[in-house]
Amino acid sequence: MEIKKAVIPVAGMGTRFLPATKSMPKEMLPIIDKPVIHYVVEEAIASGIDDIIFITGRSKRSIEDYFDDSPELENHLKKKGNEKLLKIVQDISSMVDIHYIRQKEARGLGDAILTAKKHINEEPFAVLLGDDIIVNDKPCTKQLIDNFQKYGRSTIAVEEVPLEKTGSYGIIKGQLLNESLYALEDIVEKPAPEDAPSNIGAIGRYVFTPEILDCIKETTAGVGNEIQLTDGIRLLNEEQKVYAYKFTGKRYDTGDKVEYVKAIIDFALCNEEMKDQIKEHITGIKL
Ligand code: G1P
Repeated sequence: MEIKKAVIPVAGMGTRFLPATKSMPKEMLPIIDKPVIHYVVEEAIASGIDDIIFITGRSKRSIEDYFDDSPELENHLKKKGNEKLLKIVQDISSMVDIHYIRQKEARGLGDAILTAKKHINEEPFAVLLGDDIIVNDKPCTKQLIDNFQKYGRSTIAVEEVPLEKTGSYGIIKGQLLNESLYALEDIVEKPAPEDAPSNIGAIGRYVFTPEILDCIKETTAGVGNEIQLTDGIRLLNEEQKVYAYKFTGKRYDTGDKVEYVKAIIDFALCNEEMKDQIKEHITGIKL
């Protein structure tokens, strides 16, 4: 079955980037000249998604404006004859169908995804978290979709994380089926290193059968007194086996300051117009 819908929750507070995120969504922080969320939407589109549901909250209006038409700006660029920028700006608003659902209260990732239930309409769907940028020729979400189509199982993307960081992830216990695929045995939200069942963490990409929504509905508040997606996945795994897939690609958790700076450096070094100057700058730094 084809997967055409994706849910992208963007209702989080972004406290790690205060004060920048006091009046600006963390998803709008730029990696050079494109906001993080733009890369996430590009990944969804490159994976075959044509219908995106953003779960937003207060102070996320600029995300809606970003993906909307901007007549004043377009007129200004037309008058100036700046065709190149005009095309870039126009292309953004015609990228894909986007719907917005507002989560009234930040009650957790699971609750955010649940608000999309009506729109999902009993179809399998993808979830992309707005912080991760994953660079790879075959997009991470497409890798999950291919797995889903091959095995018919909900599939979550995982990677090895440093043991001291298990408290930032949903950590899995799995039975290795082949070099990159696990059958899920358990998943625990943000365990301390001594309690973690492994050091394999769920990153922000998932493909689910629609039954995940009923499972989330059944869960009660978990870690941080929030409705956790991880608890929904654990329930789903009791009913229908969930798979975890070691994706191929380089992930930047742009919600982390160090990773954010690394992303900017790496993207600048891949940018034809800037790479020579940036290389020169970096080699000239006295450490
Ligand atoms: C969420 C999930 C967690 C997952 C992580 C990936 O946590 O709850 O299971 O491992 O995303 O980034 P958050 O980062 O929103 O605290």
